[in-house]
Amino acid sequence: MGFSYLWVLLLCIVGEGLVKGALGVGGLACNWGTRSTHPLPPSIVVKLLKDNGFSKVKLFEADPGALQALGGTGIQVMVGIPNELLAPLASSVTVAENWVSKNVSYYISKNGVDIRYVAVANEPFLKTYKDTFLQTTFPALQNIQAALIKAGLGRQVKVTIPLNADVYQTDSGLPSGGNFRSDIHSLMMSILKFLSDNGGALTINIYPFLSLQADPDFPKEYAFFNNTSKPVVDGSISYTNVLDANFDTCIAALEKNGFSSLPVIVGEVGWPTDGDPNANIEDARRFNQGLVSRILAGQGSPKRSTPPDIYIFGLIDEDAKSTQPGNFERHWGVFNFDGSIKYSLDIGRGKALVPAKGVHYLARQWCIMAPDASPSDPNLAQSINYACSYADCTSLGYGSSCGMLDARSNASYAFNMYYQTMDQRKGACEFSNLSVTTTTDPSPTQNGQNRSCRFEIMIDLGKHEKPRRPRSSPAAGLREHNSHKVVMVLLVLVLVSTLMI
Ligand SMILES: *[C@@H]1O[C@H](CO)[C@@H](O)[C@H](O)[C@H]1NC(C)=O
Ligand SMILES: *[C@@H]1O[C@H](CO)[C@@H](O)[C@H](O)[C@H]1NC(C)=O
Ligand SMILES: *[C@@H]1O[C@H](CO)[C@@H](O)[C@H](O)[C@H]1NC(C)=O
Ligand SMILES: *[C@@H]1O[C@H](CO)[C@@H](O)[C@H](O)[C@H]1NC(C)=O
Ligand SMILES: *[C@@H]1O[C@H](CO)[C@@H](O)[C@H](O)[C@H]1NC(C)=O
Ligand SMILES: *[C@@H]1O[C@H](CO)[C@@H](O)[C@H](O)[C@H]1NC(C)=O
Repeated sequence: MGFSYLWVLLLCIVGEGLVKGALGVGGLACNWGTRSTHPLPPSIVVKLLKDNGFSKVKLFEADPGALQALGGTGIQVMVGIPNELLAPLASSVTVAENWVSKNVSYYISKNGVDIRYVAVANEPFLKTYKDTFLQTTFPALQNIQAALIKAGLGRQVKVTIPLNADVYQTDSGLPSGGNFRSDIHSLMMSILKFLSDNGGALTINIYPFLSLQADPDFPKEYAFFNNTSKPVVDGSISYTNVLDANFDTCIAALEKNGFSSLPVIVGEVGWPTDGDPNANIEDARRFNQGLVSRILAGQGSPKRSTPPDIYIFGLIDEDAKSTQPGNFERHWGVFNFDGSIKYSLDIGRGKALVPAKGVHYLARQWCIMAPDASPSDPNLAQSINYACSYADCTSLGYGSSCGMLDARSNASYAFNMYYQTMDQRKGACEFSNLSVTTTTDPSPTQNGQNRSCRFEIMIDLGKHEKPRRPRSSPAAGLREHNSHKVVMVLLVLVLVSTLMI
């Protein structure tokens, strides 16, 4: 009796293993970024992850809300360390021990978070950073590894460094010619040896969209999967998409330098939906569907048949990210900022994406340009600029979802984004008498290209005025005015700090 019970149990365990094997790596992985003026509550994001079959998530920093919400979910977590922390972490092992104790050990033992990786730095050797992080990245990595071992986590939690794919290049133009950039070659050798000795992994971020962005002659079809019309032939291998070609350039570089068995993770890959003519719903859906299908099929690259972990970038849109790389930077989400669906994806066995549940929105009211105001009003341009310096207007640009609006709707869009970003507060829809609030949705009707322009209603984070029975006293009005200023100052700080990163 006891025997057969055990047998059934074993069968269940083996069975689950088989099912997971059949599904490839057993689920999807994504990046959860939180540079938003109105981030979704972490518990809602975690439900969104689980509902959509994400079994791994990467955080850019040890965000307490996110880590608490991930506790006990079984979702595997990669916790990032921002570049600003590299210098202190490099300077002292005690700082690293504190970081591990507060940001890793604590969440594992007290919250049941399944932390598997610490990602030290984020693209520290990006060419545009010049040499800023060259001296600190490796010592910080060593100190974090030492701290993990001291905390008794040396087996459970591995280290990695997420690097931009610009750390390697190919002289021949073919993947087989891959090698690490000569200016960081010896540093890379030390890092790779260290990762290899400590059971760590190399993480690389690959962006076919940015390849297309940087070079108008880049063959667009080559960015997608399953198009064999113009393969890149490299010896016996025909590359039909840039992700495989780029990944194998990295593998070739590793092989060339004696690290052919070092695990490689794709830390970021995805396609944005707005802010650029190539950033649109159709292309993003096509790219991400191709990506998800190959992840679920457990497909590797021509040079490495074992499928790598691939973290999709990203889960949700972030309206406070720096637009320095381009307006598309705020639109990488598979989901909109509020967890609503942008496009359908088959996420395995015919299952479709499901949206976030339990999201609370502000009232259904918008701020628009007053009907009696004139588009030629001399204050209009200044008012739009003001609104757009605090709120996200990246959808208004050329080739973007709201790029076809006339001057009046354009102004309305800007005013509304400001009004919503300011939580529909009193005084947030007062642009030199050019604006009014309305309860009629001002979103234009679909323009036929699936690039529907949405006039958002922001998520309710409890920052708007509570409805009050008596009319507010002048004193209350003054307080509101001041807290409004505090919110604006905070927003400016957020904007400035994102610009600095
Ligand atoms: C934990 O991580 C956060 C976010 O990166 C950081 O601000 C904080 O300083 C870290 N704690 C310690 C003790 O290093
Ligand atoms: C492959 O790309 C070509 C253009 O390069 C395009 O005409 C064709 O429709 C694509 N095929 C598929 C299956 O996507
Ligand atoms: C775009 O719109 C057309 C027709 O309205 C529809 O058939 C198609 O599925 C849409 N594509 C996406 C990606 O939503
Ligand atoms: C790519 O081709 C394979 C085999 O022909 C097919 O199973 C898969 O669904 C295709 N993927 C996409 C994204 O078209
Ligand atoms: C709409 O506003 C944006 C942002 O201020 C501006 O760049 C664009 O030229 C405006 N378009 C029209 C049609 O007014
Ligand atoms: C708005 O209109 C009111 C009433 O017409 C006027 O008193 C006020 O000066 C105007 N404000 C601005 C900023 O134009």
